[in-house]
Amino acid sequence: MKIRNLMVTGGSGFIGSNFIRYLFNKTDFDGRIINVDKLTYAGNPENLTEIERSYPDRYCFERADICDFDAVDDLFTSYAVDSVCHFAAESHVDRSIKRPGEFIYTNIIGTYNLLESARANQERFVTFHHISTDEVYGSLGKRGLFRETTPYRPSSPYSASKASSDHLVRAYNTTFGLPATISNCSNNYGPYQFPEKLIPLMTLNAMEGKALPVYGDGKNVRDWLYVEDHCEAIWTIMNRGKKGETYNIGGNMEMENIVIVEMICDLVDELCGTDRDGSRRDLITYVTDRPGHDRRYAIDFTKLQKQLTWFPKESFESGLRKTVQWYTENQNWVERIKSGEYQSWIEEQYGA
Ligand code: NAD
Ligand code: DAU
Repeated sequence: MKIRNLMVTGGSGFIGSNFIRYLFNKTDFDGRIINVDKLTYAGNPENLTEIERSYPDRYCFERADICDFDAVDDLFTSYAVDSVCHFAAESHVDRSIKRPGEFIYTNIIGTYNLLESARANQERFVTFHHISTDEVYGSLGKRGLFRETTPYRPSSPYSASKASSDHLVRAYNTTFGLPATISNCSNNYGPYQFPEKLIPLMTLNAMEGKALPVYGDGKNVRDWLYVEDHCEAIWTIMNRGKKGETYNIGGNMEMENIVIVEMICDLVDELCGTDRDGSRRDLITYVTDRPGHDRRYAIDFTKLQKQLTWFPKESFESGLRKTVQWYTENQNWVERIKSGEYQSWIEEQYGA
């Protein structure tokens, strides 16, 4: 069965908008995409302006909260949804430490609602793909890698809520036979990432000559993946992955945070010039560590590589350069986020 009416949840966020752009511009997908997004602070329809203009018959936007079962269920019926790619989530670890409640509702109840609607329409269902994170596995020591068989040991309210949603998806496959797959991915970076995450935050602060707040000793390690490589992996799994299976996705690119921040400083110095004495590296400021801060993540994606022949294409050096350059060249997008104008526009279009 072919994917015809694909519901993408959270399609106005960072990875979701890159995924929608990737499907229209870089694949032979010829069906319809229904982007269902609540437009929280992290959702910005301006991420997809050119897609909306170019594909008026095949791209539909619906502002809805996945925690609202009736709204979700109506959309399944009215669009005859046959597949779901589920990105919508509260995604920022620091926010989950300050206010866990939204994470529990959106990430757990929201996922449950989508699963229930999919189950009610199971006779026409092609695939339900759930986007998850490597953070469900907890923290690694100096050695070792996360495998699909690694036990779950989430540390933050964010990762605990994602772990819970993974278990629900697995249970719906095992118990009800819902044709579902899960992917657990490492840290993404690239264009359109909300400037609360490490790479865009440091880039914009460096451009403005502001302090660069590095948590703890700066030696925490993350495994970085360029967002388009992630999109390609997701589409590969949705089309060729075995139902009921989980696939780890990673970039083979372990980096200490401090090394990344230094690389960003050097790129901003090069791309924006400097009217300061010395490098932007002087702006680096060590600050109090994040509570429960996982020390190291690293992904073994052999299963995806061997079974579905996927491998990341972008090197970290070129991907980071493209990303920093994108932020320097898209000042309008940055300014509308910073000033809150993007949210005023959303209120005008869709109400508060
Ligand atoms: P994001 O915060 O940029 O975007 C999340 C999107 O979901 C936004 O558009 C937001 O408006 C929408 N949303 C939030 N609550 C909603 C609700 N109740 N109903 C409908 N829409 C809602 O997140 P992202 O970084 O693009 O991450 C997308 C997914 O990928 C998440 O599930 C996240 O856990 C997962 N993930 C992210 C990364 C990463 O490095 N960013 C890595 C691995 C996995
Ligand atoms: O591993 C996948 C996860 O990656 C995703 O599931 C999450 O949705 C995504 O937000 C990301 O989580 P992290 O917590 O790893 O990302 P963040 O960009 O917040 O932080 C990356 C590292 O940088 C982390 O070790 C904390 C550190 N950091 C972060 C910020 C925002 C700093 O040192 N200073 C900062 O100001």
